[in-house]
Amino acid sequence: MRSVSERGATDLAEYLSAQRERLHRWLDQLVPSETTPPEVIHRAMRYSLFAGGKRLRPILAIATGEMFDVPESWLLPTACALEMIHTYSLIHDDLPALDNDDWRRGRPTCHKVFGEAIALLAGDALLTLAFRTLAEIPIPNSHRDRQARVIAEIARAAGTVEGMIGGQVLDLLTEGEPFDEPTLTAIHRMKTGALITASVRVGGIWGGAEPEQMHALTRYGECLGLAFQIIDDVLDVTGTPEEIGKTPGKDAAARKATYPSLYGLEASRQKAQALIGEALEALRPFPRSERLADLARLVLERRA
Ligand code: IPE
Ligand code: IPE
Ligand code: MG
Ligand code: MG
Ligand code: MG
Repeated sequence: MRSVSERGATDLAEYLSAQRERLHRWLDQLVPSETTPPEVIHRAMRYSLFAGGKRLRPILAIATGEMFDVPESWLLPTACALEMIHTYSLIHDDLPALDNDDWRRGRPTCHKVFGEAIALLAGDALLTLAFRTLAEIPIPNSHRDRQARVIAEIARAAGTVEGMIGGQVLDLLTEGEPFDEPTLTAIHRMKTGALITASVRVGGIWGGAEPEQMHALTRYGECLGLAFQIIDDVLDVTGTPEEIGKTPGKDAAARKATYPSLYGLEASRQKAQALIGEALEALRPFPRSERLADLARLVLERRA
């Protein structure tokens, strides 16, 4: 497989940093300032949101939307809403009642700085603001159906049945228990894959993608999402605190269901690589999918 570094690495790095700056500007406008009362909740929300995450999910939404020439005024609020939901999931994931983590995005976790009650509420607030942001996207009446579909898509991906909360529940229930491949795959597809898949699909929904194009985008997203969590599991074993911005070794300590614990590191990497190959294959019908292809290769090569 051709690596990102062999081709256009500078171009990709420039694209990523431009999108991250753009997202920062939009998020800054959408989230109440630190001086808006009650100040502490806005400080907590901003503390976690502006701690320097990779912004993979919103960049996937932007890159997909750009293939369909989706207007910025629809795409950027959607991208920001995805990042708000993702950040909320991290704040709650780190709470003592869940993974009990002290470091995130290279700084002490939200509850370490603001206390558990405010961290809980900051997560709730980001989730709520995400759906307000989506509902307030200025859409002509002719495209209202797309807005409703985007909102439902993201709500489903964040939810209990096939979505992130359901995956988090299974992740907790499986801690310290014997598990098999179907259970592990279900956890990873739900807790991480669902929101990543939705991030890709919303670009297609806004762009009026045909059903077969949506099918291809879904396949790309599902393969990418599962590969992303496999690599997250690998990095928990091999990464340094400086690289990953969180404490490594926590999965083994908590006896989490992970790919390395079931298959070892090398086989886990190979599974991720096969999934990225399949994600790239799914992009074949799209003439302008080079960004999405680069992002897929990056997921495999990432060290953070
Ligand atoms: C971490 O997500 C949680 C997982 C779903 C694996 P990211 O690795 O995307 O975290 P940030 O946003 O870059 O901090
Ligand atoms: C978290 O998975 C998935 C979420 C929905 C937040 P992990 O618990 O493995 O994520 P990290 O390793 O803490 O970032
Ligand atoms: Mg977790
Ligand atoms: Mg965790
Ligand atoms: Mg992890």
